[in-house]
Amino acid sequence: MSDAHPNSLLSIVAHAKEYGFIYPSSEIYEGLQAVYDYAPYGAALKRNVQSLWWQSMTQLHSNIVGMDAAILMHPRTWQASGHVDSFEDLMVDNKDSKKRYRVDVLIENHTAELAVQGNAVKAQEILARLQELLQKQDLAGLHALLLEEKIVCPIARTTNWTEVRRFNLMFATKLGAQEDGADTIYLRPETAQGIFVNFLNVQKTVRMKIPFGIAQIGKAFRNEIVARQFIFRMREFEQMEMQFFIQPGNDDKWFNYWQQARWNWHLALGLPKDKLRIKPHDQLAHYAKAAVDIEYHFPFGYKEIEGIHARSDFDLKNHEVASKKKMQYFDPELNQNYLPHVIETSVGCDRLILMLLCEAFTEETIMEEEGAKTRTYLKLHPALAPIKAAIFPLIKRDNLPQKAQEIFESLKYDFPLIYEENQSIGKRYARQDLIGTPYCITVDHQTLTDDTVTIRERDSMQQQRMPINILRDFLLEKVSFKTILAKLPSVG
Ligand code: GAP
Repeated sequence: MSDAHPNSLLSIVAHAKEYGFIYPSSEIYEGLQAVYDYAPYGAALKRNVQSLWWQSMTQLHSNIVGMDAAILMHPRTWQASGHVDSFEDLMVDNKDSKKRYRVDVLIENHTAELAVQGNAVKAQEILARLQELLQKQDLAGLHALLLEEKIVCPIARTTNWTEVRRFNLMFATKLGAQEDGADTIYLRPETAQGIFVNFLNVQKTVRMKIPFGIAQIGKAFRNEIVARQFIFRMREFEQMEMQFFIQPGNDDKWFNYWQQARWNWHLALGLPKDKLRIKPHDQLAHYAKAAVDIEYHFPFGYKEIEGIHARSDFDLKNHEVASKKKMQYFDPELNQNYLPHVIETSVGCDRLILMLLCEAFTEETIMEEEGAKTRTYLKLHPALAPIKAAIFPLIKRDNLPQKAQEIFESLKYDFPLIYEENQSIGKRYARQDLIGTPYCITVDHQTLTDDTVTIRERDSMQQQRMPINILRDFLLEKVSFKTILAKLPSVG
């Protein structure tokens, strides 16, 4: 059996659509750029990923609780958080093509081309200059760099650029029925602020003591200009964020702790170590004192899946000033009030899904009687797979369907299952392989005499006979989150 991983993004996008994981949004109207819909199996996979994260945060840490804040928040939230003033991309328009680009992306693409042409030193020089200009927010300097390097619009092929402008990434909408005079509000660009504004509510009502965390899963919206790479960069996406509130001065300790904890979590999912890396940020977000990304090696290169940020008391302090409400915590051990500092872990659920699909998508050449054949399957962890088992009668008569239905009925309260009686058994196996179902249970004539079935494992294609009365325990053990979470070091 030979192993090949031609998992180009294109094959994954096509597979995700063809086999019911992810569709382009409003496809009958040609889709909406950078917006996607989760199809039946994708939605189930996403729920599993979210439940796993939720359990690992809230159930495995006695000092982390969950919450679910609204997407819409008072507009002053976003003034205080700095998003109205600082959450922006630097854009430039080409006057000939009328296309808008992120200036840093244009310059980075240019340096990538230089590197391919063997001019790596020059590429490095330009990148260093880009970083300096971005740090200084020198818009005129960025414009000058575009012209100096003769960077052209990919469509018009001209250097006819407008000046570089700031473009806020938040989606604005109107509150109330009347457009006129209604307040502008924003669709949240991060879930974190819902946690910050509720920090004292949670601390007091759930009686938490520092250090403690608040975890949340929810939608976030960003009007991304460069929207590409499938669900990697979307305009509507889902974040799984946890804010960990600590005593000031312990920032380094907890920043290192959460880097390690989150790194372990990704490894526990079964991701190979050599496809993950930790990268310190070149450029810090407006709220961060220190930040690292956990990156995964996607088919289009190493890219961020999760950020771990030391946010100091930036957010709580700003909300305290803006709302004129005390946000301080009374520490009973120190007998003292203070504004806690925050270490944040923020992972994109959709990026995790893309990473899992990239890892799972497998094409193998197998030898059959008729010759070599390509076998495609999704090697998803059984605990994350959308369907845990498929149940088949070998043939559609001799009471085999009735027996298979009985098994389906007895297991359906514990597992998402599929019952299938049409087509050849080989075709039914192949179909389940394509959606990543880890086990296929087949009822044959022997089942009627001794109450045993065959159970086929997806990756090895090995079959074993098993009494029906142990199927439930067998599956429970294989598909439990425990198989992943027990690999994590235990924490208080
Ligand atoms: N609260 C901090 C925060 O929002 P971020 O680095 O901007 O930090 C955190 O975002 C995570 O959210 C990223 O690591 C990424 O996984 C995900 N994310 C950000 N923008 C995204 C987008 N446009 N599409 C999909 N996921 C995105």
